Amino acid sequence: MPLLAVEGLRKSFGDHRAVDGVDFSIEAQRLISLVGSNGAGKTTLVNLITGFLQPDEGRIVFDGQDVTRLPVYGRIKAGIARSFQLVNLFDALSVLDNVRLAIFSRDNKIHQVMRLAERDRAAEAEAREVIGEFGLADKWSVAASGLAQGERKLLDVAVAYALRPKLILLDEPTSGVGTREKSFIMDRVEAVVRSGGLSAVIVEHDMDIVFKYSDRIVMMHEGRVLAEGTPQEIVRDERVAAMLGRREGERGE
Ligand SMILES: Nc1ncnc2c1ncn2[C@@H]1O[C@H](COP(=O)(O)OP(=O)(O)OP(=O)(O)O)[C@@H](O)[C@H]1O
Ligand SMILES: [Mg+2]
Repeated sequence: MPLLAVEGLRKSFGDHRAVDGVDFSIEAQRLISLVGSNGAGKTTLVNLITGFLQPDEGRIVFDGQDVTRLPVYGRIKAGIARSFQLVNLFDALSVLDNVRLAIFSRDNKIHQVMRLAERDRAAEAEAREVIGEFGLADKWSVAASGLAQGERKLLDVAVAYALRPKLILLDEPTSGVGTREKSFIMDRVEAVVRSGGLSAVIVEHDMDIVFKYSDRIVMMHEGRVLAEGTPQEIVRDERVAAMLGRREGERGE
């Protein structure tokens, strides 16, 4: 049984079909890249899987459970977490408190935060461990607003990871940072995903990163899955080559 199965998923905005009949599945403990040009429907698909949008049609089965109609919080409880294309952090809070807050919300104790001194120590220890795994140990007390862009992206992933999901969906975790920082972010993400035994769906535009880190690649085009397979299979796919060639051309390279 796959960890996630998406069947016949559709979502339109007005008469624009952003996700137009998507089927795919993900096994446990895999790193999947979701690629495709701007507007292909990647973020919409992530929003559908994580419950931020409701599909018009189709079904999402996660870990043996139909989660199609579950709200975001229900899906987090089922084991699905995400990060955002534009990071979703509390800028005024420290690195430590951003992660600690995720742990409290996961444990459904957000309303009792002030009374939970005991739990707080456990949450702090856990938060520090997560922060360390993402290479932010020496930044734990810095306000999120005071981090460099790459560190903000890492912290956003750390907050999602602190929910201890079985599946984590990362919407462009390396966007807006330089090439060296991209590798730094992806090395951390890969290490955590592999050691934690979870699956990750990573939306990524940089094909060098995609080919280096993915077990499988799902390529979307105009709301549909154009191709799906291992990096070796994808690199040989003529439709993908045509898409990538066109994109290189668009960039004028
Ligand atoms: N809330 C919305 N209302 C109206 N149209 C939307 C909405 N969200 C997305 N769209 C449209 O749906 C299509 C798919 O958008 P989506 O954000 O999923 O693309 P994407 O693959 O993530 O692109 P990018 O690589 O630029 O992030 C686009 O044409 C977009 O304009
Ligand atoms: Mg997007």
